[in-house]
Amino acid sequence: MAIYEATHENIMKSAEILKNGGLVGIPTETVYGLGGNAFSAEAVTKIFAAKERPFFDPLIVHIADFESINNIAIIESDKVRKLADAFWPGPLTMILKKRENIPLIVTSGLDTVAIRMPNHKVALEIIKNGGGAIAAPSANPFGYLSPTSAEHVEEQLGKRIDMIIDGGNCTIGVESTVIDMTAVIPTILRPGGLEKEKIESVIGEVRMLDRKDKKISAPGQMENHYAPSRSLFIVDTITEEMVSENRSGILLFRENKEFENKNKNIEVLSKDGDLLEASSRLFHCLHLLDKCDIDVIYAQRVPEEGLGIAIMDRLYKASKK
Ligand code: TXA
Ligand code: MG
Repeated sequence: MAIYEATHENIMKSAEILKNGGLVGIPTETVYGLGGNAFSAEAVTKIFAAKERPFFDPLIVHIADFESINNIAIIESDKVRKLADAFWPGPLTMILKKRENIPLIVTSGLDTVAIRMPNHKVALEIIKNGGGAIAAPSANPFGYLSPTSAEHVEEQLGKRIDMIIDGGNCTIGVESTVIDMTAVIPTILRPGGLEKEKIESVIGEVRMLDRKDKKISAPGQMENHYAPSRSLFIVDTITEEMVSENRSGILLFRENKEFENKNKNIEVLSKDGDLLEASSRLFHCLHLLDKCDIDVIYAQRVPEEGLGIAIMDRLYKASKK
């Protein structure tokens, strides 16, 4: 069993593993990360290998205090400090100009680097004691559903990593919002746990990269990401026919009591249609449905506002494979 309770002793043990170039499953408020020392090309190579992730998909470097940026990146705009003051620690990743200390494997050869300070006490302790800069993608095999519990990490990658620290279920449940701060107008490359409107309230105009003009410099934009192994269809309304269909699974946004005894493979994102509850449960529900003996998942569309934008982005990607 690679899962360890988040005691002080275990946290220090995981920090030691990280300093020695090993890999640790780390809890954050968004999803679990697969962490390795960001200054060590060797450790980072192990991350790509464990995930079977292509080397052209760059990683996020996680820090525990703002000053740590100075070893990693160059701050060219005062908007960076403003966003950090407002939203760090939190579900926001900023793309900045990279410094040479960070090996090119971390950034897939790009001259920019992604940085985030997670809002999770355990993660911050691990980062602070484990070297100060931890590269961590989501702790899932490449292209598969993201992990929102220590058990998800164990199931998917348990044999390939040294230790998983259990920090409970992720409270946000979708990955961080990734924003390119090197662009003339800051540009959101991946919608996530922090809403665009909140960012705009602090730094003014922000662009959103359209799903259609995606580019490979932001491979989180690749369409076959976050996919379950079943076929997933997004629908406006879940119908009786879908529910009674042989071998179907249903992902409801809100509760619908009428459907409950007609199909046992139903998951509800949020009883009352709360978007934060829905995002925190999204991958959990998809993991559960993916384990059912079914052929298709019908997923009900959620309102595309606030966190609903990130939820729909993940569902859209899950439907493309
Ligand atoms: O919430 C999160 O962000 C989680 C937790 C563990 O912090 N991490 C995460 O990492 O989602 P990952 O590797 O699954 O996604 C990183 C995203 C990818 O879309 C990647 O393309 C983008 O960040 N990215 C990283 N560095 C970049 C860069 N220099 N330029 C553009 N995009 C970059
Ligand atoms: Mg990922």
